[in-house]
Amino acid sequence: MKTTDSKKQSAKKETTKKETTPRGVTKPKSNAASGLTELFEDGLKDIYWAEKALTKALPTMVKNASSVELKDAIDNHLTETEEQIVRLEQVFKIIGQKPTAKKCDAMEGLIEEAKGMLEETEIGVVRDAAIIAASQKIEHYEIATYGTLRQFAETLGLPEAATLLEQTLDEEKGADKTLTEVAVNAVNLEAAEIE
Ligand SMILES: [Fe+2]
Ligand SMILES: [Fe+2]
Repeated sequence: MKTTDSKKQSAKKETTKKETTPRGVTKPKSNAASGLTELFEDGLKDIYWAEKALTKALPTMVKNASSVELKDAIDNHLTETEEQIVRLEQVFKIIGQKPTAKKCDAMEGLIEEAKGMLEETEIGVVRDAAIIAASQKIEHYEIATYGTLRQFAETLGLPEAATLLEQTLDEEKGADKTLTEVAVNAVNLEAAEIE
């Protein structure tokens, strides 16, 4: 009898032990996502904040660029970014949620870095090269984000949302490609020549 009791006790202890977060593993917050739907919604809120922040940051990049091709490339992408915000609002509608922005720490950091690069470069081809470098980091972050969100939408059985997210993903890839072309065709070569 005594043995059974102690066995029960040790089994109970074992269960309690399993429920606690192991050393080195981050303890989830009380509002942590427990399913893919929540993770998808969190991602949408993040990128919604990021796109809105970009509509404020991109005009500064246009003003600081000297190359007409670069100014045009960023300006065109600003128009696309405004459309991407509308697309995200459509995705929120599909999942029956009100569009909500949640601060995206990564995009905040990337925009800060871009602004810092302006101060650290002379106006002209060198600053243009810095703007391209900073902008491509932003595009790559967006490509990763929209690739993930599109996949989540597909897995969750939301084909319309997946299509909308894929349209934006293609625009981000296009913007990245255009920036590479601007860099290769003129800016970086000229920047190297003034060394
Ligand atoms: Fe975007
Ligand atoms: Fe973008």
